[in-house]
Amino acid sequence: MSELVQRPRRLRSTPAIRDLVAESRLDARMLVQPHFVVPGEGVSEPIASMPGIEHQSVDRLVATVERDLELGIRAVLLFGIPDDAEKTPDGRAAFAGDGEVPRAVAALKERFGEELAVMTDVCLCAYTDHGHCGLIRDGRIDNDATLPHLARMALAHARAGADVVAPSDMMDGRVAAIREALDAEGLVHVAIMSYSVKYASAYYGPFRDAAHSAPGFGDRRSYQMDPRNGREALLEAELDAAEGADILMVKPALAYLDVVRDLREAFPLPLAVYNVSGEFSMVKAAAARGWVEERQVVLENWHAFRRAGADIIITYHARQALAGGWL
Ligand code: PBG
Ligand code: ZN
Repeated sequence: MSELVQRPRRLRSTPAIRDLVAESRLDARMLVQPHFVVPGEGVSEPIASMPGIEHQSVDRLVATVERDLELGIRAVLLFGIPDDAEKTPDGRAAFAGDGEVPRAVAALKERFGEELAVMTDVCLCAYTDHGHCGLIRDGRIDNDATLPHLARMALAHARAGADVVAPSDMMDGRVAAIREALDAEGLVHVAIMSYSVKYASAYYGPFRDAAHSAPGFGDRRSYQMDPRNGREALLEAELDAAEGADILMVKPALAYLDVVRDLREAFPLPLAVYNVSGEFSMVKAAAARGWVEERQVVLENWHAFRRAGADIIITYHARQALAGGWL
């Protein structure tokens, strides 16, 4: 007779039993698909370092989002990619009312209304000629001079109908500046998803290629967080929550699951993770060589985000996962 009382293997014996006791579940409704919006019409250009992801003009974006909605993707995060000629030292094209992001927001809202949650990235780096996320004075990123610009950019997106604006610049005080500007215009219903804990990460490589937003000199370590720091993440999140952030975010995701867990335990706010471009492209590259099984690896990663405590997963794999019936 067996002396074992606990046999965890009992509940692993069939798919039905495993599914019954699974602690983490995934749902299309928690996924956010990012998009890169470019000027022009009829544009749909693949991004070499991010297989399956494209630069799209507004008309093509609307068609893509329509197909994605049928798959169950109900939230998008928009990044504007202006022509190089639009870039200036202060990145003012970022808050033009007729820029690619406001036009995309308006078109998506007109076509899909409340069916779709439209979120927009708020940051100057794609619009500054030096590629930094803030204005430069005396060779430094000038925090406080950058805030009004970020607020104007968020306003342009909110006026066009964005449901959520998402500042990714990491300037101190930007959530308060944006909240104040929105409220002053009666846009009290527009939510802020703050990239609260955004690390100075090498995992953004493919994105910077895609967004043409690599800094022209230096790096982003004077504003993005040091990957060596975990406690500081709580400080950043606390400030954002106090300034009025509605959703907190940790970015990148995979290398920072301890931070996700810390924020989950410390804050009641919804928590997003950004499964960034480098994380996506590493899986793609390995899968293309047959070194890992793409579907299994992606789901394993997403369950890790869920176990750590994430509510929302921003991922370039959303469309492929749903089209492939992975969930
Ligand atoms: C811009 C921004 C970046 C990302 C989102 N917003 C790049 C950066 O900070 O250099 C990264 C997204 C990704 O890698 O998928 N502030
Ligand atoms: Zn930026």
